[in-house]
Amino acid sequence: MVEPVAITLFRLVRNSEVEPVLCELLEYYEKDEARHIALGVQYLPTLIQNMSYPELFFLFIWQLKVMITEVDGLKELEKDFEVLGFEPDEVFKMAEKKQLEAMEMLGEELGVSPAIWQPMRRIISAKKDMSFGNESIVKIAYDISMEIFNKAKGLLVSTPSLED
Ligand SMILES: [Fe+2]
Repeated sequence: MVEPVAITLFRLVRNSEVEPVLCELLEYYEKDEARHIALGVQYLPTLIQNMSYPELFFLFIWQLKVMITEVDGLKELEKDFEVLGFEPDEVFKMAEKKQLEAMEMLGEELGVSPAIWQPMRRIISAKKDMSFGNESIVKIAYDISMEIFNKAKGLLVSTPSLED
């Protein structure tokens, strides 16, 4: 599902009023992409519920790969955003928010916790930080390691010992 990023870009360009005919047409593209999202949110749960664990794993990896490619695509458009007067970081935040909202809607339809998207959210955030040069890879690796360590520590603390 990549439509949320497309919708974000279409809306930004439309709101910029950069070119009247293009901006008028973009409204139709937005509606079309919104229909694709609705189809995905309504139809994908049925498909996903019939998947095996390996198929679910590969679907997750595929979606992650698509989202990482989206970050690369947004990075490639960085100069164009600047020409149009958009702040690249803001564009990314808006696109990411819409994308994750769509994933969460899909999760709701599946009846799973929004927490299921947390690893994907963290990986995309790290990819964005690396692509846009906001953080060094060492800092990102350290932050992720500390998150995993703290979660593991939390699990150990909350697990009753054999003596209890
Ligand atoms: Fe689409």
